[in-house]
Amino acid sequence: MYNLQGKTAIITGSGRRKGIGEAIALRLAAEGCNVVISDLGTPKGPEFSIEHIGATDEMEAIAADARALGAKVIAVPCDVRSEAEVQRLMAAAVEAFGSIDILVNNAGVGYIMEPFTEFKESSWDAVLAVNLKGAFLCSKHAAIQMMAQGTAGCIINIASQAAKSGFPYAAAYTASKHGLVGLTRSNAVELGPYGIRVNAVCPNHITTGLGHWQNQFFSAKFGLDYDTYLQGIRDRNPLRRTGMVEDIAKAVAFLASDQAAYITGEAMNVSGGEEYH
Ligand SMILES: NC(=O)c1ccc[n+]([C@@H]2O[C@H](COP(=O)([O-])OP(=O)(O)OC[C@H]3O[C@@H](n4cnc5c(N)ncnc54)[C@H](O)[C@@H]3O)[C@@H](O)[C@H]2O)c1
Repeated sequence: MYNLQGKTAIITGSGRRKGIGEAIALRLAAEGCNVVISDLGTPKGPEFSIEHIGATDEMEAIAADARALGAKVIAVPCDVRSEAEVQRLMAAAVEAFGSIDILVNNAGVGYIMEPFTEFKESSWDAVLAVNLKGAFLCSKHAAIQMMAQGTAGCIINIASQAAKSGFPYAAAYTASKHGLVGLTRSNAVELGPYGIRVNAVCPNHITTGLGHWQNQFFSAKFGLDYDTYLQGIRDRNPLRRTGMVEDIAKAVAFLASDQAAYITGEAMNVSGGEEYH
């Protein structure tokens, strides 16, 4: 365990069961943080339908689980594509807990995949708006608050193996995650003098709700049944398994802690050795 007692952490996209964001929120709650669970809550058009998003009741249930770990918790709906909503999210955190110490940009869209020559402009825009612009807006407004506080802060971007390697049918996702590492590095250099560390975590495959959708999509594309496709991922991995949400939560807790006080601008693979550059 790391000593994060009394720190306030915002985790975007943390209102969906089985998600990486849920695991991060519960881990930071167990570490003693005040936790801000945030997600879309309600569907926003066909690209953000109920099957893909964290709904309000799910968000509230995850908040209750975090409270049961002894943490102070609020649940705040926020569409990270909107600067006004992001500002309201930051204000709600400060009003409830008095500060923002940790921001985890976890909200992401990984279910919009199309062959590159058929990739729709609207699909590109939807992916980039959440995965990259959303992280930009949240980081900007968290940094404003952290700089005003004058205390050390920490931003952690949940990137992907697709931030380091290319994946078919995923031009927008791959570009957005590579871009997120670029944002991480730029922010680390610019915000470091204010005591704000900025890092990325790059998971490989995890069967979350999003991961399950990807398993279905890629197994169909490659003409494999679901289990054979998934076993192929395990067989390629040096540790012979896929990732678990807790693997990412552990990495986030470490990066948020003083144990990582001299680590910034890093894009850390948490992939069982599948990705190593
Ligand atoms: N599962 C994997 O294999 C994997 C691998 C690498 C990286 N990732 C990344 O991890 C993060 C979490 O993914 P997950 O697998 O837990 O999937 P998930 O679907 O459980 O979580 C993504 C969350 O983002 C939220 N979201 C989407 N659009 C939003 C918006 N406009 N505003 C606010 N929230 C929004 C969704 O509601 C959902 O709760 C994503 O950034 C994803 O790209 C996942």
